[in-house]
Amino acid sequence: MRKKGLFITLEGGEGVGKTTNLLFIKKFLEEKGIAVEVTREPGGTVLAEKLRGLLLENQTELISEKTELLLMFAARAQHLKNVIEPALERGDWVLCDRFTDATYSYQGGGRGIDTNLIAWLEQFVQDELRPDLTLLFDAPIELGMQRAKKRGALDRFESEKLDFFNNVREAYLQRARQYSERIKIVDATQSLENVQSDIQKLLEKLTSDLL
Ligand code: TMP
Repeated sequence: MRKKGLFITLEGGEGVGKTTNLLFIKKFLEEKGIAVEVTREPGGTVLAEKLRGLLLENQTELISEKTELLLMFAARAQHLKNVIEPALERGDWVLCDRFTDATYSYQGGGRGIDTNLIAWLEQFVQDELRPDLTLLFDAPIELGMQRAKKRGALDRFESEKLDFFNNVREAYLQRARQYSERIKIVDATQSLENVQSDIQKLLEKLTSDLL
């Protein structure tokens, strides 16, 4: 695939403010004259949203770790083919709420699945496609969970134990160290105003390099 647009992903634990900031980023880019496709994972197509429902619902039947991993990548394959790749080929920028760094962090860090296996699936499903920029919203687990609880009933992931989220956070931070060129950490404990000022600086740099 010949990619023309840029692919930006937002990552982080529960309740770190990704969704609020997604709209801020969309507006920022559109004001620069960039066409933006906003989407999310798991989800983004009719089928992938159905898989999201299955993954997030609190099920009576236990979902095995392998099933969870494969459903995440099944949703991703559909999303890439039907939404992400066509948008990038049109020259639009894609702004995606979570992508494969979430799989490394939740299924790898959280569930303990071998990251070599995740890397194999990543290559199989995505070929060479990787995000150009990833904003990692980072906050202590307790803060994020307080915010998530305020939103209402907890989903299957949000109902996990503290240890799980600590491992997810650690895996995200480890990836940010490993891919420091691509993954930029945003301190999500700050006021919304300061968070957005940090985001703006990162985007100004990215767009001034390119536009
Ligand atoms: P969110 O839309 O609130 O971020 O919910 C999506 C949930 O799915 C979140 O708890 C993280 C989880 N998730 C994974 O476990 N692995 C993945 O690859 C993705 C994309 C999401």
